[in-house]
Formats: sequence, C-alpha cells, structure tokens
Amino acid sequence: MADEVKRVLISQEQLKRRIQELGKQLSQDYAGRNLLLLGVLKGAVVFLVDLARAIDLPLQMDFMAVSSYGASTQSSGVVRILKDLDAAVDGRDILVVEDIIDTGLTLRYILENLAMRNPASVKVCALLVKEKSRPEGIKADYVGFQIPDEFVVGYGLDYAELYRNLPYIGVLES
Ligand code: IMP
Ligand code: MG
Repeated sequence: MADEVKRVLISQEQLKRRIQELGKQLSQDYAGRNLLLLGVLKGAVVFLVDLARAIDLPLQMDFMAVSSYGASTQSSGVVRILKDLDAAVDGRDILVVEDIIDTGLTLRYILENLAMRNPASVKVCALLVKEKSRPEGIKADYVGFQIPDEFVVGYGLDYAELYRNLPYIGVLES
C-alpha cells in the first residue's frame, strides 16, 4: 500500500467484480444501439478501459477533458473544456463515463454541453458517487459504488496528478 494511503476503501477484487456486473447490465441495455463511451479525462480512463472490455457489444470510445479542481481537494465550481470530443455525436447513444460525482458541477456542465449536439441519448455511468452529494437535477444512471464523503485516490483518481495507478481505491492521509 502507498505510504500516504490511510486505508483501502475498495479493493482490486471488489472493483473487478462490480465492473463485470456493470458490463453485463450495459450489454443488455445497449444491445442494438449505437453506443459511444465518452470518457472524462483523466480520472475516468482506468475505469473506462476496464468497463469497455466488460461490455460485449460493438462500441466506440471518445474522450473529453475538463478541469474543475486544479491541485486542490475542493471543487472550485469553475469548469473549463481542456479537450473536446474528436467526433460528432448526433444520433449516438452516449454513455458518459465518470470516475466520481462529488458536487456534480463537472457532470452538469458536460451534460448541458452534450445536449446541444443532438445525441440520440445521454446517460451517465459513474464508478463512485459520494453519499453526501446531492447535485440538483443530476443523477448517474449506473453507479459502481456509493462512498463516504472522503477524498479518495487510485484507479484513475488523483491528488495533484499522483496515485492514478493504484489498483484499488484508497483514502488519503489528510
Ligand atoms: P464534482 O464537479 O465536484 O462532481 O467533481 C468531479 C471531479 O472532481 C471528478 O471527476 C474528479 O476528477 C474530481 N474529484 C471529486 N472528488 C474527488 C476525490 O475524492 N478524489 C479525487 N478526485 C475527486
Ligand atoms: Mg474527473
């Protein structure tokens, strides 16, 4: 375990099992559709590549990068697009893949932005949702795990760009 990690919240095994379940569910729900996995860089990358391999359907992937935190553990509320999608999304069934929903500000911004581009549908799959988060009008259609209101790292999630490569979700020493 990394030194600064206080405890493991979700183990590698638990992640694996839950992602297989999500993949099965998504394979049923998106059968015959035009699925585009839209990963939100960089946090969702690790989750997205594992999730994609658990989905037994033809699909495409695209990525968008936004910034809302900088190097702080508090949301600034300011969302900027750092990298836009490569391809047009009209007529596509978009599944936005997010690492974590905290305040929901990032997600709300992304959903509002996508709605203007005429997709066939937009749903959200979040690996983690903080239990305390009650973002207005925003909810994830697929959720990996509900977690307590703590700052977590690993499996794609960072603190100051570190810890993304941990194979588990851990709570950082404050
Ligand atoms: P929100 O806009 O407050 O919902 O925050 C969304 C983004 O903030 C996520 O996509 C993460 O990149 C980051 N974030 C929120 N909570 C955490 C955390 O506990 N650990 C690491 N990153 C987080
Ligand atoms: Mg993120």
